[in-house]
Amino acid sequence: MPADFEKQSYWRQRFASETSFEWLVSSQYFMSIIEPYLVAACQEYPAIILHLGSGTSDLQNYFRKRGWIDVTNVDYEPLALERGRQLEEAAFGDVKMKYVVADATQLASDLPQNCKFNIVVDKSTVDAVACAGETALLRMASGVRDHLAEGGVWISLSYSQYRFELQQLPFEVEVVAKIPTPKLKANDPDVYYSCYLLRPK
Ligand SMILES: C[S@@+](CC[C@H](N)C(=O)[O-])C[C@H]1O[C@@H](n2cnc3c(N)ncnc32)[C@H](O)[C@@H]1O
Repeated sequence: MPADFEKQSYWRQRFASETSFEWLVSSQYFMSIIEPYLVAACQEYPAIILHLGSGTSDLQNYFRKRGWIDVTNVDYEPLALERGRQLEEAAFGDVKMKYVVADATQLASDLPQNCKFNIVVDKSTVDAVACAGETALLRMASGVRDHLAEGGVWISLSYSQYRFELQQLPFEVEVVAKIPTPKLKANDPDVYYSCYLLRPK
């Protein structure tokens, strides 16, 4: 990814014309992979979901279709949240989920401290944040950790199989799915996106 992917100005310009786009994989496909982990994470308590870096994805609509409505969609670019609301309204005729401007690397100050989630999901937002460097990614991880409820998990999809090879990461990391990327030619090498399940240490 070019370095610009860390910059809010890049996303603002992009979302001025982009109303709907899915990074790496469709939400429907992603949901089919992560649903068992979401179900397991909210067996004792109702699902309270933080969707980080929602962009112009419709992933939140799949949560709502599944009956999970306590979803906080977060992006640091306000236009993304406007797009998210529009996508929800187009699918359901109203807006019931939350859309909050917050920086994923500053969750401690941007979200109320007592706001806890049993599921945090990001779909390639880690990749954008990683463009700002390891410190930014560790700040994101620490903020997610602080906002996880007891027994909560973070599910993250990245194009990188090395995304969480970080010292001081406050999570145990498990790769729960390797998703083959499309090939342009039959003899192109096998390349996979990684779906991570992160549990607080
Ligand atoms: C690669 S896109 C992924 C969008 C969406 N999750 C998807 O799957 O299509 C990254 C998203 O993260 C947002 N983003 C990047 N850095 C961020 C940060 N520090 N805090 C909050 N959102 C951020 C961008 O505005 C953009 O919407």
